[in-house]
Amino acid sequence: MNILVFGKDGQLGKAFKAVFTANTLEAQHHIDYVGRAECDLASSQAVKTVLDQLKPDLIINAAAYTAVDKAETEVDLAFAINATAPEIMAQYAVANNATFLHYSTDYVFDGSKDGVYTEEDLRNPLGVYGKSKAAGEVAIEDMFANLPLDSKAQFAILRTSWVYGDGGNFIRTILRLAKEREQLSIISDQHGVPTSAEWLSSVSLNLVLNAEGQIKPFPSGIYHAVPSGETTWHGLATLAVQSAIEAGIVMRVKPESIKPILAVDYPLPAPRPMNSRMATDRLQSVLKRSGDELIQVQLAQLLEPWDKPVKTYVRHLVHSKLIT
Ligand SMILES: NC(=O)c1ccc[n+]([C@@H]2O[C@H](COP(=O)([O-])OP(=O)(O)OC[C@H]3O[C@@H](n4cnc5c(N)ncnc54)[C@H](OP(=O)(O)O)[C@@H]3O)[C@@H](O)[C@H]2O)c1
Repeated sequence: MNILVFGKDGQLGKAFKAVFTANTLEAQHHIDYVGRAECDLASSQAVKTVLDQLKPDLIINAAAYTAVDKAETEVDLAFAINATAPEIMAQYAVANNATFLHYSTDYVFDGSKDGVYTEEDLRNPLGVYGKSKAAGEVAIEDMFANLPLDSKAQFAILRTSWVYGDGGNFIRTILRLAKEREQLSIISDQHGVPTSAEWLSSVSLNLVLNAEGQIKPFPSGIYHAVPSGETTWHGLATLAVQSAIEAGIVMRVKPESIKPILAVDYPLPAPRPMNSRMATDRLQSVLKRSGDELIQVQLAQLLEPWDKPVKTYVRHLVHSKLIT
């Protein structure tokens, strides 16, 4: 089968490359990894051309316009990449009986819910980035509406949050600042779940591939995909700095001296949801339905708390000399 990964140079795209290389999938399938140089997602024609040339059976769209604050002034570009490009990918999938794996964000919600968001909760994005991602979700859903009964086309939109991996992210920024500065003030009233790109790529493949590495049927739709538990940006920063110190890094800022502040006291161009917590029951129930031993292992992985992988990630940054 042909697999096409968009976004090869992003955190999630690199995680897919790593997971495909680590098991037998790369030997088993023809996998194309595409970055900005090969296909500018702002160009509808470029997306169509790549799809027509590479003829994927499985499209993984790990690319996105992710500059949340810059999106406030680059509205058309954000919508072209986050809404129009996925719509074209969905159109290809529908026309060619392909499987489409796409990613979205907690930022499609306004964060005002008193509790955990489910997939049925209404989208109400606060900023342009969230609006463009929400428009992408709707475009994909619309494209897959009214499929012929014999169609094998299927899609999954995995909504995730606070992603970290091989690339720029909050954890790496905090570790750099904690080495440079005397004092750090971090928002403590926005709640969410840090998600490792490596974990996300692996969970995603559990949803769409069977034990033989072939595409399996699954119910098309939106799935929330985050580890269990929750924290705040302040909680994440504290754990990251603590983990770096335990791994032997000297920090000017100590974890206990990181000052909690309110989001209203740290205004940014794009508003962020105060509550980003998302329930993963739908993904759990689809994985449970398969019932075999492998799935049980995968389910356990889905239910892993968020903090252990953060510690492992920070240790990896230290051992790889990505922070010194
Ligand atoms: N990061 C988060 O905290 C977070 C949170 C919730 C959801 N998500 C979602 O998770 C998915 C993966 O995010 P990520 O963290 O892996 O993002 P990322 O590290 O920012 O990677 C995004 C990739 O998209 C590529 N891209 C952007 N504009 C492009 C264009 N015009 N043409 C071609 N490629 C383009 C970028 O290319 P360059 O490398 O050339 O810039 C980059 O490699 C996205 O759908 C994102 O919306 C992320």
